[in-house]
Amino acid sequence: MSRAETAGRVVWFTGLSGAGKSTLASALHAELLRRGERVELLDGDAVRENLSKGLGFSKADRDTNVRRIAFVAGLLARHGVTVLVSAISPYRDTRDAVLSELPNASEVFVDAPLAVVTERDVKGLYLKALAGEIAHFTGVSDPYEAPLTPALHLRTDLKSVDDCLSDLLSLLEVRDVAH
Ligand code: PPS
Ligand code: ADP
Repeated sequence: MSRAETAGRVVWFTGLSGAGKSTLASALHAELLRRGERVELLDGDAVRENLSKGLGFSKADRDTNVRRIAFVAGLLARHGVTVLVSAISPYRDTRDAVLSELPNASEVFVDAPLAVVTERDVKGLYLKALAGEIAHFTGVSDPYEAPLTPALHLRTDLKSVDDCLSDLLSLLEVRDVAH
C-alpha cells in the first residue's frame, strides 16, 4: 500500500528557539516531497501569522496555539498527509495531551544547550530577551519542559543537519514498519 492510501503521520518537532526545528522540518519536508509523498509543514512562525494571529506567549496562549496546530495536523493526517509540526510547544502536559490524540505521531526533541542557541541567535531575539526587552522568552524568562521519552532526541550542536535528517528518515522507516 502506498503512503497516500494509509493514514498519515505527524512528526512534532519541539525545542528552544534556534534549536533547529524549522531547519530540520524543512529538510525533511524537501526530502519527502522529493520522494513523492504528500507532506505539509506547520511552522510556529507561519501559524502565528495567520491561524494563531493575535496570540501571545502566556501559557494559555501557547497552549491554544499548540492545540490549534494539533487540530489542523489531525485533519491533514486523517487524509493521508504526513504533517511536520515545528513549534516550541514548551509545556509537557499539553504536548503529551495533543500527541496522544494524533494518529501515528512522533515527538522529536530538537535539542541544543541554551549557550549554543544564544550564540546562534538566529533572529537576534536572545540578545533582546537577555537585555530584558522581551518578556516570557522561552529558556530565558519562561519555561521549556523537555520531553521525557521522545521518539527521537537530536542534539543539533553535536550533529550536522544531514546526520539529523538521516536519523529522521530512519525513524519514519521504523515507525512505518511497526504501524
Ligand atoms: S509556542 O510556544 O509553541 O506557542 O511558540 P511558537 O508558536 O513556536 O512561536 C515561537 C516563535 O515566536 C518567536 N517569539 C518567541 N519565542 C519564545 N518566547 C517568546 N517570548 C517569543 N516571542 C517571539 C520566536 O521567533 C519563535 O520562533 P522559533 O522558530 O522557535 O525561533
Ligand atoms: P528553530 O526553528 O528551532 O527556531 P532554526 O531552524 O530557525 O531554529 O535555526 C537553527 C539554526 O541552527 C540554523 O541557523 C541552522 O543552520 C543551525 N544548525 C546547526 N546545526 C544544525 C542541526 N544539526 N540541525 C538544525 N539546525 C542546525
